[in-house]
Amino acid sequence: MAAPDDGYAVGLEPLDAEVDDLELEVIGALPPWLAGTLVRNGPGRWTALPGGRGQAARHWFDGLAMLQRFAVRDGRVHYANAYLRSRAHEHAVATGAWGYPEFGVGPRRSVVERVRALGKPPVFGDNASVNVVRLGGRHVAVTETPEAVAFDPVTLETLPPVVFADDLPGLTTTAHPHLDRTRGSLVNYTVEFGPRSTYHLYELPDGSLERRPVAAVTTDKPSYMHSFSLTPRYAVLVEYPLVTSVLALAAGRPFPDATRWRPERGTRFTVVERATGAVVVRTTAPATFCYHHAGAHEADGAVVVDLPVMDGARAFAGFDLEGLRSGVPTARQVAGELRRYRVPLDGGPVTYRLLTTTPLEFPRSLDEDDPGAAPGVVHGVASADSLTTTFTDRLVAVDTAPGGTGATTTWSQPGCWPGEPVPVGPPAGVEGDPVVLSLVLDARARASFLLVLDAATMTEVARAHLPHVAPLGFHGQFFPEVVPA
Ligand SMILES: [Fe+2]
Repeated sequence: MAAPDDGYAVGLEPLDAEVDDLELEVIGALPPWLAGTLVRNGPGRWTALPGGRGQAARHWFDGLAMLQRFAVRDGRVHYANAYLRSRAHEHAVATGAWGYPEFGVGPRRSVVERVRALGKPPVFGDNASVNVVRLGGRHVAVTETPEAVAFDPVTLETLPPVVFADDLPGLTTTAHPHLDRTRGSLVNYTVEFGPRSTYHLYELPDGSLERRPVAAVTTDKPSYMHSFSLTPRYAVLVEYPLVTSVLALAAGRPFPDATRWRPERGTRFTVVERATGAVVVRTTAPATFCYHHAGAHEADGAVVVDLPVMDGARAFAGFDLEGLRSGVPTARQVAGELRRYRVPLDGGPVTYRLLTTTPLEFPRSLDEDDPGAAPGVVHGVASADSLTTTFTDRLVAVDTAPGGTGATTTWSQPGCWPGEPVPVGPPAGVEGDPVVLSLVLDARARASFLLVLDAATMTEVARAHLPHVAPLGFHGQFFPEVVPA
């Protein structure tokens, strides 16, 4: 285990300062073709007020959303960060307390208020701290409630919220919509809670705000699914036995307390035909859990889904702030076992094989916006051993091509804790080698840096130093259309 001053816990301290626009010192040479803006999302602080004041959060996922952007052009990098001025943020700042239920914390409510809320659906907020995406012609921050918060990717100013031009029901959604560049659309689903709940799969054409229903799949108990898979013909929902009680949510219980690990239910694979909305397969396999699907493809008579799976009983509890800050590794599993599941379209038994022995999380791939792309290299954060390391401490590239070796290529540096790698390739018709961009916490230096690696060799191309520690965050996207002036 690393020495204490090497630990990742400095990444759980708040960053109150907001930087307007700062040119970063770049070590190395950025590829000349690399132009655009990387926007990263994640919690900036875990208290309602700056300075560690006000009501405290309980879970890593609770923190107030802070955007960071790295504008890249001509080998130079300009940085800015800003809190998302969501209703949830504005309420927290005005009152010193949470105004809406977050993942593991919520408003303090009197007994009378709790009784009044019974039987009514919970009202979630818009602290969109998980991911960013281009949706309906806008850049938006998203979380697992359907309310997307628009922002300016240059100034990071919060813009009026997105209002969908439809009445698709749903209380929650995923923060991992698929962009399907072959169809020019975004695909995601909402979850409508009820005596029987419904997953509403939808497609949103580029530039539109009208979600077109694709399929409605009912379930007796909604599963906590953080993402799903898409191929040209199919969408694949993988319902883990981590089930949510809407009654408990309505009673004001935080999400981890309203959700139970029920391994006896198994994991249910549902394959939906995108063209018709028909459920082609619904079949159950042994219990497992996964946050981030790593890719999917169609094979002879089957759909194949790559999942970094972990123990569902550890999925939430392991990321409590108290446990995370303690640095004790046994309470959580920081990365999953990358399995390739084969789901026969004739309803036959689901089987899997291990793709690599390296535990992996935050999987990304260069052609993830093309549902028909053959499996290739998956990038992710990793750890040497998911049950004994304190946190993910390296970046990996895994060869997942059919018939491939599963070989991994790794980058790491002592005392450094890398965030999700975002692969970026040169524009069409431009020569150059793809890179991955990762925001790395250097605990020894007590500062973070943007690391640029060659995507194939995982060797360093360049790094750009930040003046501060960027709190440990979640997801980011590179927007090539946002080129700095
Ligand atoms: Fe995620």
